[in-house]
Amino acid sequence: MPDGFTLWFTGLSGAGKTTIAEIVGPELERRGHLVEYLDGDVVRTHLSKGLGFSKEDRDTNIERIGWVASRLTRHGAAVLVSAISPYEETRQKARELVEENGDFVEAFVATSVEECARRDVKGLYEKAFSGEIKEFTGVSDPYEEPSDPELRLDTEEQAPEESAQIVVGKLEELGLVRSEVPA
Ligand code: ADX
Repeated sequence: MPDGFTLWFTGLSGAGKTTIAEIVGPELERRGHLVEYLDGDVVRTHLSKGLGFSKEDRDTNIERIGWVASRLTRHGAAVLVSAISPYEETRQKARELVEENGDFVEAFVATSVEECARRDVKGLYEKAFSGEIKEFTGVSDPYEEPSDPELRLDTEEQAPEESAQIVVGKLEELGLVRSEVPA
């Protein structure tokens, strides 16, 4: 069985983290990996239920996700995390937890706030700009860009499929995923 690792997508709400993860996941399964998804929106309905969006609550959420990702990584899973994870120091903590058990690959989904707001898939940016939602990442709450991510994905220039292909290519380069074997 292949070694476990965690692929951690960070970026603003609506940047495309989940969309890209959901394309990468099946491709990894096709190549023999056990895949698990830890998505901020979903985790917040279970493991992090009741947490809000203060710095403290976001940090707790990210540390929980990091802890679970680390456990799963230990057992050989390919863990796909999609969470805003706005604070560099907390992402670093998650990295350290995971690296006790396997590789950690940070993928910065670098969609600008202007583009996320233009897409506004969930209608949250409109509410954030009007003040109806407070402490909204990128509008009224900080997002610290990763200083040295393994991957930076420019979703304004490329389709999700292309971003996913770049991710899988990087995983191959790092020796975490087997290259495509011709049939
Ligand atoms: S994190 O900051 O703790 O990493 P997480 O990824 O779990 O965030 O959850 C983000 C999702 O919560 C967003 O995609 C959005 O749907 C929703 N959300 C609700 N309120 C906020 C807010 N104030 N800031 C950011 N996202 C919010």
